[in-house]
Amino acid sequence: MTTRKPRVLATRHFPPDVEARLTANFDALLNPEDRLYDGPGLIKAAASCEGIMCAAGDPLNAQTIGGLPASVRIIATFSVGYEHVDVAAAAKRNIAVSNTPDVLTDATADIAMLCLLGAARRAHEGASMLRTHNWLGWTPTQLMGVHVTGKRLGILGMGRIGQALADRARAFRMTIHYSNRSRLPAESEKGAVFHADPDDMLPNCDFLSINAPMTPATRKWVNAERIAGLPKGAIVVNTARGGVVDDDALIAALKSGHLASAGIDVFEGEPRIHQGYYGLENAFLLPHMGSATVETRNAMGFKALDNLEAFLLSGKKPPDLVKAS
Ligand code: 8YV
Repeated sequence: MTTRKPRVLATRHFPPDVEARLTANFDALLNPEDRLYDGPGLIKAAASCEGIMCAAGDPLNAQTIGGLPASVRIIATFSVGYEHVDVAAAAKRNIAVSNTPDVLTDATADIAMLCLLGAARRAHEGASMLRTHNWLGWTPTQLMGVHVTGKRLGILGMGRIGQALADRARAFRMTIHYSNRSRLPAESEKGAVFHADPDDMLPNCDFLSINAPMTPATRKWVNAERIAGLPKGAIVVNTARGGVVDDDALIAALKSGHLASAGIDVFEGEPRIHQGYYGLENAFLLPHMGSATVETRNAMGFKALDNLEAFLLSGKKPPDLVKAS
């Protein structure tokens, strides 16, 4: 007797090794052209599926989840962030939701450090000068940036990625300040200064890095008032979610010179980002590359598959089940 493999919809084109395992273990509906589904399209595509493997940006809001076929039992997102999945709506439909923690910590912390260094050392301006044939030679005052070694770094959100960034920054002899929902134990804190109220951390930030998830509490947290609370010449780094920053306020502060620079990998409404960013020389901008290494993207895919397989093939609880906060 042959038993039918559970059907899983892949909403995006995932790395080849990930799709190979997905196809081997499930009746996989792939998306080789990487078309972006809207809500109704996703509902239609999920017909007779037991599982959905999705990614950040997919419209798995309450409306889409409400319209999913009754066959759907699990949504496994290929991401650590899961603000694009309405977990409460899924719970109402008895649909499990899983994410991919841990495996992208180092890659994302590397990109945060790259953004910090790129912003401080005017990497965008230097690279553009060279590539547009406008480098006329070295001069003693050319592209002088902000020194990194020994400066103070404030981290909003001291979870796995925040802590991995702190470890990297310690190699630059930076002093670490942080704010988090709860204080870390001393062995994880490693001498970092805890601020129970994140606003109290702001005057201590030569650099401010956002490493907190996108929640109603963090939405537009970096606003005009908080930017004014940073020392003049501070640098803002964001590798978490664009929605944590008020783009108008950040752009105004980069234009006025209150902020020396910014290093940003994530944007509200990406890829249609605030037009104001395009003309800013003092912003080092990347197109959401935090987890973009072959090793990391494979590990994320395998983790999403671990969850789908545990649940749909072995009848077990998905190891990375997330709950509505
Ligand atoms: C990816 C991320 O862009 O995992 C996250 O939360 O932001 C990034 O690593 C995302 O995983 C794509 O789904």
